[in-house]
Amino acid sequence: MPLKIALTKGRVERQVLPLLEAAGIDCSLLKQKNRKLIINTSDGNFQFILAKGPDVTTYLNAGAVDVGIVGSDILTEQRNQQAELLDLQVGCCQFVLASTNNFNLNQPGRKVIGTKYPLITQRYFETLGRDVEIIKIEGSVELAPLIGLADAIVDITETGSTLRENNLYVYDYLDLVSTRLVANRMSLKQHAAEIFTLVDQLAEVVQLTTDQRQNQGSGVK
Ligand code: PRP
Repeated sequence: MPLKIALTKGRVERQVLPLLEAAGIDCSLLKQKNRKLIINTSDGNFQFILAKGPDVTTYLNAGAVDVGIVGSDILTEQRNQQAELLDLQVGCCQFVLASTNNFNLNQPGRKVIGTKYPLITQRYFETLGRDVEIIKIEGSVELAPLIGLADAIVDITETGSTLRENNLYVYDYLDLVSTRLVANRMSLKQHAAEIFTLVDQLAEVVQLTTDQRQNQGSGVK
């Protein structure tokens, strides 16, 4: 039986693939998957299931997969109950409070905030002692203040391009986000050896990548 791994489609998938390859996993079929959603590795050891981030936690909680690879933004928002085993240190981004240049949080009145992350947003404004109305948005959150749906947004930003290209400004920085490897707790008991081998291999790759980055930063060749 292959180890079932739910991998978040898109940005996470692209950034995690090189790590999986460096850990010795044959990703050739995964790379040529086109619209296929379930891909087995050629050695039969792993089965990758391509899913949207929030569904990765759903599959993990239901025991439909053994392992999930997903952003910490989603794990926090979904109140992850499974075993978080490794920070893969890719997919790094940050939560921000952003809006148009005329936004002023300190003006009186209950602000309307658009976000894909209502729980994280609620918690953030609670720490500020502010009561806000939260509107859940599924994607392209940046539109909300531009079309008059919300006063501001709480969203993740990586390069900052989406904010810049839509004339939005950062008003506060919240938590950092990165991609994590999570295991279903029952799978962790049943497939402990396979899961910990995978974690060890990936941890080594992550450490190596971090060392290389640091060496480049310090000019060591
Ligand atoms: C995320 C996020 C921003 C964008 C930020 O959206 O919600 O919209 O990335 O990235 P940047 O700072 O590099 O521009 P995603 O690409 O996941 O798509 P979505 O808006 O459809 O959810």
